[in-house]
Amino acid sequence: MKIVRTILEFNNARNSLSDSIGFVPTMGALHDGHLSLIKESKNNCNYTVVSIFVNPNQFGPDEDFDNYPRTLESDIQKLETLNIDILFLPESNELYPPNHKDSKFQSNLFNILEGTTRPLFFKGVCKVVARLFDIVKPTDAFFGEKDFQQFRIISDMATALKYNINIIPCKTIRESNGLAMSSRNEYLTNNQRDRAGIIFATLQTGIELINSGQNNKSTIYNKLTSMILSEPIIKIDYLKIVDYNSLKEFNDIIDKKFVICIAVYIDNTRLIDNLYQ
Ligand code: PAJ
Repeated sequence: MKIVRTILEFNNARNSLSDSIGFVPTMGALHDGHLSLIKESKNNCNYTVVSIFVNPNQFGPDEDFDNYPRTLESDIQKLETLNIDILFLPESNELYPPNHKDSKFQSNLFNILEGTTRPLFFKGVCKVVARLFDIVKPTDAFFGEKDFQQFRIISDMATALKYNINIIPCKTIRESNGLAMSSRNEYLTNNQRDRAGIIFATLQTGIELINSGQNNKSTIYNKLTSMILSEPIIKIDYLKIVDYNSLKEFNDIIDKKFVICIAVYIDNTRLIDNLYQ
């Protein structure tokens, strides 16, 4: 595994790779969710590039950029075990030189769901991912469905900006109690982690209700809201059932393929999850 920090070093390492090149962009604090994307890349591509960069542009002023877990040494160990080809660890000034421009890509998906609470988030994500795509030039890039809206936006961006990159979705990896793995789970106590299992249980109940024939949005919302709030440590940011394709919320009746999306707070920790079938 080559570890490179500058674009120049990256280009030198990249020159020795050919055929299919899988790319997994991350912000580090790697867990089994990240590692599943990397395994998927290794299974599907001749070479695998991983980047770790905690991107300041996607954090709001009151968010956790400063506290975001940074565990580079153990990340490197995990990546060495997986035997990836290049680990790219850019500095901010490499990715964002003084004259850099914002990504040209805009989408009305920026302002819904996650974008309601985090208005600058997707602009920041698209900016860094476009920049990384330009440098890494992969044939395939792997994104987790845990961040379903992010995957969809990046997939749309790749099409709109004519990147010749396959954007591959990967299943959400969960703890044994169903809690979706996340670098932010580090902020939770063991007790909070246990209790956070209610998020996945609520998502599953939503799927079961709809499968059993219930299609009335308010009835489902009421049931799911009271279920998740039965765990008093949880505060709901949003709980929405959206159209799988448009990500728009249903009006009254759930009558098409859907995704249930949840964002909650446990103390100051914000967690998101979603489920569809
Ligand atoms: P990060 O949160 O580090 O996640 C990196 C990738 O891992 C994303 O594609 C995310 O969806 C995926 N991932 C996280 N938890 C997962 C889980 N439990 N199961 C499966 N996949 C999971 O997402 C970002 O970083 C950033 O926004 C980034 C795209 C790197 C841009 O800065």
